[in-house]
Amino acid sequence: AKIHHHRWEVKYQFRSPDCFRKLSITINGQTPGPTIYAQQGDTVVVELKNSLLTENVAIHWHGIRQIGTPWSDGTEGVTQCPILPGDTFMYKFVVDRAGTYIYHAHYGMQRSAGLYGMIIVSVPDSFVEPFSYDYDRSILLNDWWHKSTYEQAADLNSIPFVWVGEPQSLLINGRGKFNCSMAGTDQVCNTTNPQCSPYVLTVVPGKTYRLRIASISSLSAFNFELEGHNMTIVEADGNYVEPFVVKNLNIYSGETYSVLVKANQDPSRNYWAALNVVSRKPATPTGVGIINYYPNHPKKPPPSAPPTGPLWNDTAYRVKQSLAIKARKGYAIPPPPTSDRVITLLNTQNKIDNHTRWAVNNISFTLPDTPYLVALKEGLHHAFNQSPAPDTYNNSDGYDIYDIPKNPNASYSNSIYRIEFNSTVDVVLQNANTMNPNNSETHPWHLHGHDFWVLGYGTGRFDPVKDRVKYNLVDPIMKNTVPLHPYGWTALRFRADNPGTWMFHCHIESHFFMGMGVVFEEGVERVGRLPTSIMGCGETKRFVRRP
Ligand code: C2O
Ligand code: CU
Repeated sequence: AKIHHHRWEVKYQFRSPDCFRKLSITINGQTPGPTIYAQQGDTVVVELKNSLLTENVAIHWHGIRQIGTPWSDGTEGVTQCPILPGDTFMYKFVVDRAGTYIYHAHYGMQRSAGLYGMIIVSVPDSFVEPFSYDYDRSILLNDWWHKSTYEQAADLNSIPFVWVGEPQSLLINGRGKFNCSMAGTDQVCNTTNPQCSPYVLTVVPGKTYRLRIASISSLSAFNFELEGHNMTIVEADGNYVEPFVVKNLNIYSGETYSVLVKANQDPSRNYWAALNVVSRKPATPTGVGIINYYPNHPKKPPPSAPPTGPLWNDTAYRVKQSLAIKARKGYAIPPPPTSDRVITLLNTQNKIDNHTRWAVNNISFTLPDTPYLVALKEGLHHAFNQSPAPDTYNNSDGYDIYDIPKNPNASYSNSIYRIEFNSTVDVVLQNANTMNPNNSETHPWHLHGHDFWVLGYGTGRFDPVKDRVKYNLVDPIMKNTVPLHPYGWTALRFRADNPGTWMFHCHIESHFFMGMGVVFEEGVERVGRLPTSIMGCGETKRFVRRP
């Protein structure tokens, strides 16, 4: 196994990914940041220098389980103190499984400012994948705003609440196109800036491409389509899936897929790659890239209009794709047949002291000043609320998930779930109506440190008697991120076999910022000696001697 050493410098720089100049966060001058390539079993070392001048930072390696290195998970407030301006922090972890992953900032809302990239882990030399292709390409999808993330954060926290709104642009591999005639005269927007020339995927007629597609969107659920081409889905979040063909792919923030695409269309022209918003009423133009059939000119525009995707509010269409994904025969690990504990998490939008917040089981999550990992390992009992977070919601008067909350109040808390090591846990995510009538959103939930089995999806209120017997225990896919569909429920199961403290949260940046998350602790007593580099904040100051 190899060691891959990277030196990254994180700073603010002006960039124009959609032709509109915005202060963005770059890694070594790039946004998206450099792709990390490694082979299964290799060690990745990233020496991260924070050159943001006035802002802390932390980076999470999304989909990497951090087995034996929970302190490298990059979750500020959970597994480490933030990296201060001017400081350098070393992340070191083993990529123990091949697949397609992402990395991104996990401090404040910095992800939205451009701090993200991809991790591609190839299979061991001796291993033959259950499908073949000629070329391997990656496509990172994102949504993009022109307001700074500071302004967005201040808006979300203000009374009255100011929503971030729909994105200005959709980016494919960090490239989009804003209509510069809509930019103010005091703003810099230039459609001929090479930074915003569309992404071009050049294909050789007859060849098969493995496209590794990831979404790091801050808000949007996406539908991605390659005009005139079907896609065969073969991998999801680093796990092989039973191949299935789609015309377009619904992908939620934090998810990754590999699809196989054959360049089998009329080679005399180019085609669109089209990115559309679904689940929220779109107010953003279709994001476009070009599939360039060699030897046509890469800039030759396709003769047709870009695909507009399925109806944005066709939830049934998206649930159908979720249900169609099954683990690949011969490669799947079956789930334990039963679980030791069931945690039901009701997702609601709430008002606390006139602040709009999100809550699970009526608790709106706040991060402590002392990272949980250090607090638990070192016995700092005052660092966070020691009462356990609730395993279910109050349903004594029959919570109506189809109506706005009768009592929109909730509480702030940094309490957590302590889980018995090596036990099996079921989580049932339950969606509900927001504070607006007839509205329920899609929430992509992401679990750090684990993959989970996706046992089922359903519509309406989860019925523990009728719905549990319908769980798929035969060929459920394993994932690290899963959608909770509007007015629906999603059931998952995981083994609490990775000592550490792990976030489980909605991957929508502003929802997490407004409290939509929980923390699981398991086997923290088995965690090895913590590096002092993760300390220095809150009650952990005592462990660090600063010059
Ligand atoms: Cu990709 Cu905690 O997130
Ligand atoms: Cu959400």
